[in-house]
This record gives sequence, C-alpha cells and structure tokens, in this order.
Amino acid sequence: MSTVLEQATSRRYPVAIVGAGSIGTAFAVVHALAGRDVRLYDVAAEALDNARSRLDQILADLAHFGLLEEAPAEVAARVQTSSDLAEALAGVAVIHECAPENLEIKQAVTIEIDRLAPPHAAIASASSAIPGSEYARAVAGRSRCLVAHPGNPPYLLRVVEIVPAPFTDASVVRLVESFLEAAGLACVIVRRELRGFVFNRLQGALLREAYCLVRDGVASVEEIDAIVRGGLGLRWSVVGPFETVDLNTRGGIERHASILGPAYAAMGAERGQFDPWTDELIGSVTAQRRAQLPLERWEERVRWRDRELMRLLAARRSFSDSEC
Ligand SMILES: NC(=O)c1ccc[n+]([C@@H]2O[C@H](COP(=O)([O-])OP(=O)(O)OC[C@H]3O[C@@H](n4cnc5c(N)ncnc54)[C@H](O)[C@@H]3O)[C@@H](O)[C@H]2O)c1
Repeated sequence: MSTVLEQATSRRYPVAIVGAGSIGTAFAVVHALAGRDVRLYDVAAEALDNARSRLDQILADLAHFGLLEEAPAEVAARVQTSSDLAEALAGVAVIHECAPENLEIKQAVTIEIDRLAPPHAAIASASSAIPGSEYARAVAGRSRCLVAHPGNPPYLLRVVEIVPAPFTDASVVRLVESFLEAAGLACVIVRRELRGFVFNRLQGALLREAYCLVRDGVASVEEIDAIVRGGLGLRWSVVGPFETVDLNTRGGIERHASILGPAYAAMGAERGQFDPWTDELIGSVTAQRRAQLPLERWEERVRWRDRELMRLLAARRSFSDSEC
C-alpha cells in the first residue's frame, strides 16, 4: 500500500473540513464516529458555535436510537473547531471543502486550500452540481481536486458520489475512495463529469415534474410529498428505480419496458423530453439487471424486498412509542 493510501485509511491523520454549515458539520460527525480527529474550519465564528451545538444534538439523537458505540462526549471531543485555515489544514490527508454552492466562492476557497494544504492532501468538494473542471480549473494543484458529493446528512445517508475532473489524478480518486470507505461511506465513482452528477440529476428529474404538477393544479405540495413519503420514497429506501420496476413486473425489466415504455415516452414528450429507450438501451439495462438477479430468483427477491420494508416499518413502530 502506498504512503498516501495509508494516510487515507490510518486514523492517525486528521481530516480537515472547510465550511461548518449543514454538510461540514455532518461530515465532522461521520469522521468523528469513525474514530478520526476532525478540524472544522469556517470564516464565520458564529458558524463554528452553531456547529458545536448541532454536533452535540446529532450525537445525542444517534445515542437515543442506539447508533453510537461510545459516549457522545467522547465522539465530540475528536472535533476541534478553528478559525485559522493554516492550522486546520496542517498534517491532514484529505480536506472536505464544504463552502456554499457558489462558483466564485468555491474557486477562491479551493485556491486558498491548495496554497496552504500539505502537498499530498486531496481536496474533495461537497459541490452539489458545479463540476471540478469549473471551480478548480485555475487551481495550481488541480490534479488533487475532485468532487465527493454526499447525500444530506451523510451520517445517515451513507453513500457518496466521487466525481473526478478530467485533470484529477487517478491516485487522488483512490485515496478519497479509501478514506471515505474507511469512514463507513459507500462510494460510487461517476464515470463522466457532468453538472449535477448522478444524485441531483435523479432528484432533479423528480423535482422538475413535481413543480409542473403543482403549477398545473394536478396535486398540492403536501399531496405530492405524501405520495413520495408513503410510496416511492419508502420503496426506494430498499430498492432503486431499476430494481423497483424489475421486481414489479413478472418477466422483469424487459417486460416492464415493453408494457409501460410507450406510456413513459408519452409523458416525457408532454414535457419536451425525447430520450427513447431504444432496443439497445433496454438490452443493456436488462443484461445488467439479469447479472444482478437471474429471473429464477425473482420470487425470492420480491419476498426479500417486502421483508426489508416490513423491517423498516417495524423499527419505526418500535421507536414511535419511545421518542424523546
Ligand atoms: N445542504 C445539502 O442538502 C447539501 C447536500 C450535499 C451537498 N451540499 C453541498 O455542500 C456544500 C455546503 O452546503 P451547506 O448546505 O452545508 O451550506 P451552508 O450554507 O449550511 O454552510 C456553508 C458554510 O460555509 C461557510 N463559508 C462561507 N464562505 C467560506 C469560506 N470562504 N471558507 C470557509 N467557509 C466558508 C459559511 O459560513 C457556512 O457556515 C455546498 O456546495 C452544497 O451544495 C449540500
């Protein structure tokens, strides 16, 4: 294992987080839970005070639900707040840049981090939509920059998409992946850089339609949220959109595409979207699903899905009586 990878996974090396808002504080929780020392920096002193009380509250809630293996105070003690960027960056292997989603701010803060950080440290931005090739283009050490975009909050939604820019060094991708996996986060490496990456492209597709439905008087905001809460969202916490339709249709996803593909194409056309599910595309999606689940195991997997949903509902019920 290379020295840089050792740094990524060894707990001896602290992590720096630049920007102590929602995501910065949440990443502090992730790494402190994993036993790593955290340096949390912000330009605003008030943000650091808020982060400290938010951190205590999150750890108390995790303890309430039996999700902490240590006393909250022990975990909190691993997080050091700082108003001095150079001090926060000293000796770290990875930096999470969690400044606001604004191109000028991200450009300026990344240049400053690059100037002060140890030469081999990776600079991972939490950017929701701005790709590295936009905010890091002018950074001298741009080969160590990439996006590591979490779901909010990452101490609960434990998947991160890693999006390298064309100029990102491959060793930096491996370093950040190992580092995040050591903290218990699953990583998906996005194969081509594009605005909004995968997470927000999927979320955006649903949100754009939801806005249209409200605009056209088809459903209210609360009615749409109710359908997602009780239906799509609950199901998606167990299976993704491809597995959903694969398991909803006897014969699997290929049959689903032949039955409902034309209806989905017509819905897309109403919104001006023409991205046909060609035979070739359906063939590729089907082959990937069948590699995951042969049709002979379809019934078994449907039962698994239902049991996972039952587990979730049972856990919710068992905690609903003991809420703090
Ligand atoms: N909130 C989400 O749901 C979510 C999810 C995933 C990713 N993100 C991304 O994470 C990043 C941070 O978002 P957030 O929701 O935590 O924002 P936020 O507004 O809660 O926090 C941003 C923090 O950055 C600080 N800041 C501003 N300029 C700074 C600078 N130059 N140096 C250091 N700190 C600075 C602010 O004081 C503030 O505390 C954004 O890129 C956002 O798109 C957000």
